[in-house]
Amino acid sequence: MMLLGTQRVDAQGHLEIGGCDAVELARRFGTPLYVMDEQWLRARCAEYRQAFQSRLPSCLPTYAGKAFLCLAMARIVDEAGLGLDVASGGELLTALRARFPAERILLHGNNKSVAEMEMAMQAGVGRIVVDSEQEILALQEVAARLGVTQDIYLRLTPGVKPQTHTYIQTGQIDSKFGLAIATGQAMQGVHEALAQPNLRLVGVHCHIGSSIYTTKPFTMAVQVMMEFMGEVRKVTGHVLGDLDLGGGLGVRYQPEDDPPSLEEYAQQLVEALTAEARRHDLPVPRLLLEPGRDICGEAGITLYTVGVIKEIPGVRTYVSVDGGMSDNPRPALYQARYEAIVANRAHLPRELTVTVAGKHCECDALIPDLEVPASLAVGDILAVQTTGAYNFAMASNYNRFARPAVVLVAEGRAELIVERQSLDDVLCHDRLPERLQPRG
Ligand code: LLP
Repeated sequence: MMLLGTQRVDAQGHLEIGGCDAVELARRFGTPLYVMDEQWLRARCAEYRQAFQSRLPSCLPTYAGKAFLCLAMARIVDEAGLGLDVASGGELLTALRARFPAERILLHGNNKSVAEMEMAMQAGVGRIVVDSEQEILALQEVAARLGVTQDIYLRLTPGVKPQTHTYIQTGQIDSKFGLAIATGQAMQGVHEALAQPNLRLVGVHCHIGSSIYTTKPFTMAVQVMMEFMGEVRKVTGHVLGDLDLGGGLGVRYQPEDDPPSLEEYAQQLVEALTAEARRHDLPVPRLLLEPGRDICGEAGITLYTVGVIKEIPGVRTYVSVDGGMSDNPRPALYQARYEAIVANRAHLPRELTVTVAGKHCECDALIPDLEVPASLAVGDILAVQTTGAYNFAMASNYNRFARPAVVLVAEGRAELIVERQSLDDVLCHDRLPERLQPRG
């Protein structure tokens, strides 16, 4: 059994998280339910700062809000002293409403709207990561109109292709993101950016992909990016102060997953960075990182109630739960694999293999082969682990399901941080034109 963060099995064989009995949480808040382990979140933020700032004091780990963001999460990240990467007006508004300090916010997006640019500049966000030449001009226009000078990074594609699902590879030349170094577009972008009176080009950014389990692709990215920074100084005389390496470190979804430790990751990145700085006779840049999944992934579990159990003799047993691809689209999208524990039978040996299915109108296999205790029964609580990242964030209303609540647990306390949608919430934006009104 894989127990993460503050998870443990109590004396009556129940799974506990943040000092709360998972079975009790399910009863109190209903299922499906996202549960986030606050102590783990805070510890992970602190470990990032410790691992990197002990080596490079100016380093700013900047949490990628796309993985999981709500007001409470923004507060936790602020209190931990991290930066916050937002990638849309909605994420930015969440940060601002949570009073996240604007100077520690960084705005991403490959197709930012003028409204998003304005909102960011009016709020005074610290950095805007520019994704295209077109955007340089658009940003200049907005900055000039608002009378501000905006610090920017240029997002580059270093041509590094890590081993991960093709949907989440982003560092290769053939990508909608960023400007490729290899094609010369990156350097062109630098010239363009330096020519804008209201933009200050302070750094470059790359994000090579997500769910990466080795450090090699990251150190390769450091080499390519630092070489480029050397080129920029040679060609333009401009020294870029910041290097943002994006996110991408994988987490433990299953017991065999073995991501590098943060110490190892930090050690190797910083080593590569200082070696490359020496090689290109550049100052060691201020390092930014944008971990998303690695901050919140292992902090979360999703609780479901077991419903129909259907045995097809000689084939398999389907165990249906009361959620599925609307609260966790990752198995369907990326063939993602998850581990789970029967929260009310966590102490029992697991001798039965079942397929956990959601209740959506398609295959909706959440876990193709999960080992569970043979006594598994209707009404049991299933805790799917490592659902803290890209689950709540990617939830939908498919089949008009209401989105689950999110509960934050710590030291035996459980607090609602996102309310469960009601079915009325799901319907509340529907409008019925007069001619379609039901008659009679
Ligand atoms: N920075 C940028 C610019 C990104 O695009 C991303 C993720 C991150 C940071 C954070 O990456 P992380 O540390 O979480 O790997 N929905 C997919 C993941 C998409 C990631 C997109 N960008 C999934 O569920 O696996």
